[in-house]
Amino acid sequence: MTDGMEGEDKGMNLKTSTDKVGRNAPCPCGSGLKYKRCCLGKPGSSVLNLEETYRSKYGIRLKKKSDIEGIRKAGQLVLDTLQLVESRLTPGLITDEINTLVHEFTIKNGARPAPLNYRGFPKSVCVSINEVICHGIPGNRVIKDGDIVNVDITSILSGYYADANKTFFAGKPGPEARKIVDIARHCLKRGMAAVKPGNTLGDIGWSIQTYAEAQGCSVVREFVGHGVGFDFHEAPQVPHFGHRGQGLTLIPGMVFTIEPMINLGQKELKILDDNWTAVTRDGSLSAQFEQTILVTDDGYESLTPYEL
Ligand code: MF3
Ligand code: CO
Ligand code: CO
Repeated sequence: MTDGMEGEDKGMNLKTSTDKVGRNAPCPCGSGLKYKRCCLGKPGSSVLNLEETYRSKYGIRLKKKSDIEGIRKAGQLVLDTLQLVESRLTPGLITDEINTLVHEFTIKNGARPAPLNYRGFPKSVCVSINEVICHGIPGNRVIKDGDIVNVDITSILSGYYADANKTFFAGKPGPEARKIVDIARHCLKRGMAAVKPGNTLGDIGWSIQTYAEAQGCSVVREFVGHGVGFDFHEAPQVPHFGHRGQGLTLIPGMVFTIEPMINLGQKELKILDDNWTAVTRDGSLSAQFEQTILVTDDGYESLTPYEL
């Protein structure tokens, strides 16, 4: 499959793509040196075969044009499903009713819900309310007026995975609910703005963490963004905290999620006895937004685009 494609389906031109890596950026070969002091201009350097280097060194599978089209289609279905849930969300709704909506809509559209039976997860969507950080299992919990409700959807369409979530208000939110949802939304926006070739994973985490903490909130450490597209969770991990210039260098063709979980109080969490539901240890509100992001030649494109 990899080399059978010709011409415009060959994927991003990696020689061109390295031109976008700044001379002072960390070398994409992973040496820890600046690009100009390492592979820049060296004939036969590993940067000339970045695709192979990223796969062998980091386990990252770059996406070519036809892959990106497939993930974009899965992403549109995820967005349509989120919109359907939003249109039905109201106090009194039971979380399992969201599961039924998501499951049936996904199947009706020729796709599969990735969460179902994933490492034993028993449902087709994660629904995480108030102090639940993520991985809430739909069940008999009744949504109340003023709740914040995160709905996290991953669909598999024609073999391609796209992953996105949003936090909605049920009824009329109080000031704390408004605050944490606004901050989480802005955190994703900042993370996405840090995505371009030559920037690093640390730049993404730094831009999220500095903003969240400046607002007096905290960033969850135990769950991170992830490569996605061919599988649910691929390399690399994408922390929502970190230091500028650290971590690996972004190159065109990478596809990963950014999905910061932001707590109104402390960052610590605990996992409930169902072995999935993650809640804030201090019981404070937690909110999250997630999109699936492609690194392009000059920045990024969301494959699950919605306004932030
Ligand atoms: N969609 C989640 C993510 O953003 C993963 C959920 S795993 C599940 O990575 F098993 F709980 F579905
Ligand atoms: Co995800
Ligand atoms: Co998700």
